[in-house]
Amino acid sequence: MVCVMKVHVANHPLISHKLTVLRDQETDSPTFRHLVEELVTLLAYEATRDVRTQEVEITTPVTKTTGIKMASPAPVVVPILRAGLGMLEGMVKLLPTAQVGFLGMVRDEKTLQASTYANRLPEDLTGRQVFVLDPMLATGGTLVAAFNYLIERGASDITAVCILAAPEGIKIVEDAFKDAKIDIKLVTGALDEKLNEHGYIVPGLGDAGDRLYGVV
Ligand code: URA
Repeated sequence: MVCVMKVHVANHPLISHKLTVLRDQETDSPTFRHLVEELVTLLAYEATRDVRTQEVEITTPVTKTTGIKMASPAPVVVPILRAGLGMLEGMVKLLPTAQVGFLGMVRDEKTLQASTYANRLPEDLTGRQVFVLDPMLATGGTLVAAFNYLIERGASDITAVCILAAPEGIKIVEDAFKDAKIDIKLVTGALDEKLNEHGYIVPGLGDAGDRLYGVV
């Protein structure tokens, strides 16, 4: 299998409505955090479409039947600190049995290069489905670095969940993994127009971390 990233752009009036409120610079942090959580739950529904399942035998009050449950081991959800943390609750609402790992990545605002400053992840991700949470796919640097980190630990089935993505970032991620034998997917709330000269998504919503948690 040669990797071609599957990109799913959400197309739903509730998602568009919530995104419009998020983008508005007048929206305060508590409202922003609440909306991100709701949006991620809606995006998680699509992102988990291929989650692994297994058949189970159960007995209803009426009869025996065969049902479907999520397979073991459970997926791993990896929010990218800081802004990805704002997406975690929305994701685990749909995947309460998921294991949660953390990856701290920071982007140098001059070079736009991403580097890892912290991690807490299972050593071996072989055979695990991994969901990476990062609200803004902008230059693609953070996602490429995060995917490489996860692939080094054995991951071969990775889905990124983003609130917004820029075409430039999607291309960088696609190019970086075009020959990799892994299954990667992107689910995003919207595909925006472009990046500006500072690497911000246009029209975007500004700095997602600052809007979630304030400027530090
Ligand atoms: N990170 C953000 O928080 N916002 C952008 O527009 C780009 C990267």
